[in-house]
Amino acid sequence: MSHFVAPSLLAADFLRLDQAIDLVNTSEADWFHLDVMDGLFVPNISFGQFIIEQIAERAEKYVDVHLMIQDPSRYIESFARAGASGLTVHAEACTHLHRVIQQMKEAGVKAGVALNPHTPVSVLEHVIEDLDLVLIMTVNPGFGGQKFIYQSIAKVRQAAELITTHNSRALIEVDGGIGEQNAGKVLEAGARVLVAGSSIFKSDDPAQAIRRLKQIDANPLAYV
Ligand code: DX5
Ligand code: ZN
Repeated sequence: MSHFVAPSLLAADFLRLDQAIDLVNTSEADWFHLDVMDGLFVPNISFGQFIIEQIAERAEKYVDVHLMIQDPSRYIESFARAGASGLTVHAEACTHLHRVIQQMKEAGVKAGVALNPHTPVSVLEHVIEDLDLVLIMTVNPGFGGQKFIYQSIAKVRQAAELITTHNSRALIEVDGGIGEQNAGKVLEAGARVLVAGSSIFKSDDPAQAIRRLKQIDANPLAYV
């Protein structure tokens, strides 16, 4: 099964967002990845429903919304209404994670849960059967352009095992510091969705960077 590439618009030029959206639309990318930051769960503040609504109107592909916000249960319905295809909440930001997952389903979006680098995969043991997506953070969330944390490869492997054991349909997504140099390794460990911001939008040829990420094979010998 081939993998998906999800460019993160966080690294795009926000004064030319229309061009970035059209580039993703016409490229070989599969999803849009949109990073919502609240300045509380993570130190940074990015954008919210208002911007997502406009992006989603122009986007012709799956809109993958990554909520790096404290207590996301307050906003599930409004992000679904803004045009998200799938929402991903952080396990660390939810007191009642099981309830938030049901809330996403009731809102009619795909349900994802993200784990910070220090959070064990085992926190998902009792909810994995309900999930469409598991996001293994490969950097500490909050900023683009950070260095990939190599220990996350073992976590991707553990998540893949958990998914198999529970016969879950969840896809594993990786996010942070992903590029040609480590994509083969995370795919080999079981990732199916590659989020990439800087390695796409800070490159000279973003469409070509997307194509190269699409063409990468699962490769255990890739440099990390
Ligand atoms: C980080 C965000 C990422 C970010 C990735 O907190 O969740 O989606 O945009 O950016 P790169 O690919 O530059 O690490
Ligand atoms: Zn993200």
